[in-house]
Amino acid sequence: MKREITLPVIDTPPERIAQGLFQQRPAEIAVSSIPAVNVASVPQRSPLRYPGGKTWLVPHIRHWLAEPCGVLVEPFAGGGIVSLTAVMEGLAERALMVDLDRDVAALWRAALMHGDELAERVLTFDVTRESVTELEQHCPACVVEHGFRTLVLNRTRRGGVLAPGASLTRSGENGNGIASRWYPETLAKRLAAISEHADRLTFCEGDGAAVLEMTAEIEGVRMFVDAPYTAGGKRAGSRLYAHNAVDHRRIFETLAAAGTDFLMTYDCCDEITELVAEHRFHAVTVEMSNGHNTRISELVITRDRLFA
Ligand SMILES: C[S@@+](CC[C@H](N)C(=O)[O-])C[C@H]1O[C@@H](n2cnc3c(N)ncnc32)[C@H](O)[C@@H]1O
Repeated sequence: MKREITLPVIDTPPERIAQGLFQQRPAEIAVSSIPAVNVASVPQRSPLRYPGGKTWLVPHIRHWLAEPCGVLVEPFAGGGIVSLTAVMEGLAERALMVDLDRDVAALWRAALMHGDELAERVLTFDVTRESVTELEQHCPACVVEHGFRTLVLNRTRRGGVLAPGASLTRSGENGNGIASRWYPETLAKRLAAISEHADRLTFCEGDGAAVLEMTAEIEGVRMFVDAPYTAGGKRAGSRLYAHNAVDHRRIFETLAAAGTDFLMTYDCCDEITELVAEHRFHAVTVEMSNGHNTRISELVITRDRLFA
C-alpha cells in the first residue's frame, strides 16, 4: 500500500520558514522500496535486546553504506546494532558509538575492553529471580561488573527496559520465566565477535547531539541518528530510556548545515515530517508490526532520495 507523499516542500521561501509563518505538512510519504525485515533473518550482533533497537533496519543500512565509509558515527547508540553491523560487514572502517546512559556505557566499555572477562561472567551466572534481584540492588564500581549488571537487567527486565521503574519480566518468553531471554552461549559468542572488532569500535559516554555537532563536518564521516522518539509530545521514548530529552530541531539543523551524509529514523509524527520538509530532506515510511499485531510506520530520513 502506498501512502502518497512527496517531500520536500517546493519553493518555500526560507525566510518564511525561519519565521515559522509557513509550515506546509507533506501530504504523502512513499513507502520504502525495502521492507522491514523479520529480525530473525539478519545477524543479531548486539548482546543487548534494546527497546527501539534497529535490527529491522539492517537491509536499509546495507543499501545506504553500499559504498563503505571511513567513520560511521552513531550519536544515540543504545544496543549499537548499526555500528556493529557496519564494522563487522565491512561497511565502515570504524564506528564511533555514543550514549549518555551510564549503564549502557558500562556495558560497551566492558564489552570492548574486557570482552573475555565479561563473557566468562555470562557463562557462569545462574539466573534466578533472587540472583537478579541481588544484582539490581547495587551498582558496582568495577566496569566489568557494572557492564555485566546492565546485560543481566536488560535481558531479564520486561521489554529490555533499563530506565528507572522498569520491572523484571514475570512470565518471560513463552512462559519460560526470568531466564527466558538469557542465552549464555549465544551472548558469549556475540561478545567474542565484538572483541575481535574492538580495535575498530569506539564508545564514548556523552551527549550525542554535542558529538554530532563536533564530528558532522569531518570528511569521511557518515551519521546514523536514532534519537529517542519524543518528538511531537510522544511519550514512548521517555518511558524507555533514562535520558530522553533531545532537541530534534537542533539535530536537523546541524545535519543540514554540515552537509554530512546521514540516515535517521523517527516515528511518524507531524513535528518530524515538518522538519523533513523544512530542511528539504527525503523520507520514506517502513511499516512493521509492533508486536501487538498493530501495524506502525517509522520514518527513514536521508539527505538524498535513496529508498523511494
Ligand atoms: C532509540 S535508542 C537507540 C537504539 C539503537 N539504535 C539500537 O538499535 O539499539 C536511543 C538511545 O539514545 C540514548 N540517548 C538519549 N539521550 C541521549 C543524548 N543526549 N546523548 C546520547 N545518547 C542519548 C538513550 O540512552 C538510548 O540508548
